[in-house]
Amino acid sequence: MRALTQDRYGWDALAVRDVPDPAPGKDQVLVEVHAAGVNPYDWHYAAGQPLVARPMLGGLRGPTPSVRGADLSGVVLKTDPGVTRFAPGDEVFGFGSGGTFAELAVADAGSIARLPADLGHVEAAAMPMAAVTALQFLRAAELRAGQRIAITGAGGGIGHFAVQIAAAWGAEVTGVCGPRNAAMVRELGASEVVDHTTDDITAGEPRFDVVFTNAGRYSLRALGRVLVPGGLLLANDGSRDGLLGPMPELAVAPLLSRTRPYRVVNVEATRSGEDLSVLDGMVADGVLLPIVSATYPLDRAVDAIRQVAGQGHARGKLVVTLV
Ligand SMILES: NC(=O)c1ccc[n+]([C@@H]2O[C@H](COP(=O)([O-])OP(=O)(O)OC[C@H]3O[C@@H](n4cnc5c(N)ncnc54)[C@H](OP(=O)(O)O)[C@@H]3O)[C@@H](O)[C@H]2O)c1
Repeated sequence: MRALTQDRYGWDALAVRDVPDPAPGKDQVLVEVHAAGVNPYDWHYAAGQPLVARPMLGGLRGPTPSVRGADLSGVVLKTDPGVTRFAPGDEVFGFGSGGTFAELAVADAGSIARLPADLGHVEAAAMPMAAVTALQFLRAAELRAGQRIAITGAGGGIGHFAVQIAAAWGAEVTGVCGPRNAAMVRELGASEVVDHTTDDITAGEPRFDVVFTNAGRYSLRALGRVLVPGGLLLANDGSRDGLLGPMPELAVAPLLSRTRPYRVVNVEATRSGEDLSVLDGMVADGVLLPIVSATYPLDRAVDAIRQVAGQGHARGKLVVTLV
């Protein structure tokens, strides 16, 4: 099969190559990939950044797996005998294991769900990592109707899902984004939009119950100042620092929670098929819709990853198409 692979870190190592077809292992399925969403995650693996994370990315010299991509949508071709929930021919979306910018991918049966009835493969492929992360952070916040939440990076992958989920749960949403994304963020459910190129969300009185930061490199202390006492700071602005990434900010989080009148929470999203089904339900209810701003053929997947490298200005999601 053809796949975007690399045997060492760095943009010049990435190329579409012929590699052996993967085979499903225990409790896995083999999927013919129709489309695969692009995430900053793919950039971390491609570039091997932050440097301190390399042992977790697979090794000091090169990433594991060697095929890039985590999200997928496609058709089940084969299942491990232990898998009872899916059968060949089923249309599914979710998280691949072993790379998804490829004609074929394997996935754990517990990390996929049936394709939402109202979505095609391109839109469904945009959802897994970004929408599940948004859902799991907002769930950790125990967000309630009437609470005021500010969401930075509101026009990006996680942010545009978070705006919709928070609004669907009855929260009053302030979206922080660039001018290009303002109309979209308002349409998705934000009652207020702050343009980060002209205004500073960290200025002014304490006024939010929850701040969910996905972008902008705001310091946690500055964001904490606009939280009301007892508020919650959802810290997900994975700093794009090439050496340490978000480690310094995350290290300070427990200290802030102990010494300030607000809590700081970080969630490491889990690849939950159950949460994909929850999101499917929201799509069916008409309260959640993935926005895909561009698609790329496999041969141009590297260009798509470059768009989300560094502090990008992606609008909604980018998707690699295979079929
Ligand atoms: N915790 C986890 O398990 C987990 C899982 C997945 C991802 N992540 C992390 O979550 C972060 C966000 O991921 P993503 O997929 O949403 O990224 P993304 O799609 O690249 O979105 C980033 C967005 O931030 C906006 N932005 C840039 N500068 C800004 C500023 N100063 N203020 C407000 N918005 C600004 C950009 O557009 P405009 O400025 O043009 O509006 C863009 O829409 C990444 O750091 C990623 O590594 C964490």
